[in-house]
Amino acid sequence: MYSTLFLVHKYSVLLFLLIYLTKTALLLLNKNELLTKVTKAIKIPEMIVSFSFLASGIYLAVNNPLLGTLFWIKLVCVFVSIPLAVVGFKKGNKILAALSFVLIVGSYGLSEVHKASLKKAYKADPIDMSSENTILLGLTVYQKQCMVCHGENGDAGLAGAANLKNCVLNETQISEILSKGKGSMPKFNYLSESEVKAVTAYIGTLKN
Ligand code: HEC
Repeated sequence: MYSTLFLVHKYSVLLFLLIYLTKTALLLLNKNELLTKVTKAIKIPEMIVSFSFLASGIYLAVNNPLLGTLFWIKLVCVFVSIPLAVVGFKKGNKILAALSFVLIVGSYGLSEVHKASLKKAYKADPIDMSSENTILLGLTVYQKQCMVCHGENGDAGLAGAANLKNCVLNETQISEILSKGKGSMPKFNYLSESEVKAVTAYIGTLKN
């Protein structure tokens, strides 16, 4: 459910941005007639896109264990931009429409900043890799990066996370998921090779 809504959110946000980019561009270029036509033509699709963007966003927010300050700033940006856009387009006010567009694009950017900050926080607090004990190292990586979603025992399933107790993937496959991400699981491409090995070994100990 979470993974599906994550995709719904991702694509409805993209469509939403595209619609706003088009409408804002038309307004700024004084193509008012075309703007009225486009607005009329896409009225229903736009309502569907806006609804699925907000509804999936609310679901993800309620079920996401990783929300920080940036998320709340993003939420405020989105909610301020909506009335600005409504008034801006209604009155043909370019400044309001442009401001609303900047806020919407900015909140999209904040999601990316949020991901980068998780990586930075991890790198700022390095793991002691001197231990000979791979499982112990793996546990440290796991606690710092994976537990928020997968839970202490691997079966918490937060944010749609797979149950690691039933995981049958080998090290190469796990390493692939970590470097590219999968569905709503972010990529952890900043983990070193030895950290990946260690966390994979640790996942092995979670199995039933
Ligand atoms: C933001 C939540 C989140 C975090 C943090 C997270 N995962 Fe995941 N993980 C998921 C989700 C969601 C899936 C299911 C992805 C899918 O199949 O669409 C998943 C799937 C997996 C799978 C595949 C399991 C299988 O059998 O298919 C592995 C392995 C895995 N995660 C390992 C890790 C490791 C190791 C870490 C820490 C470095 C980690 N995850 C951190 C959410 C998370």
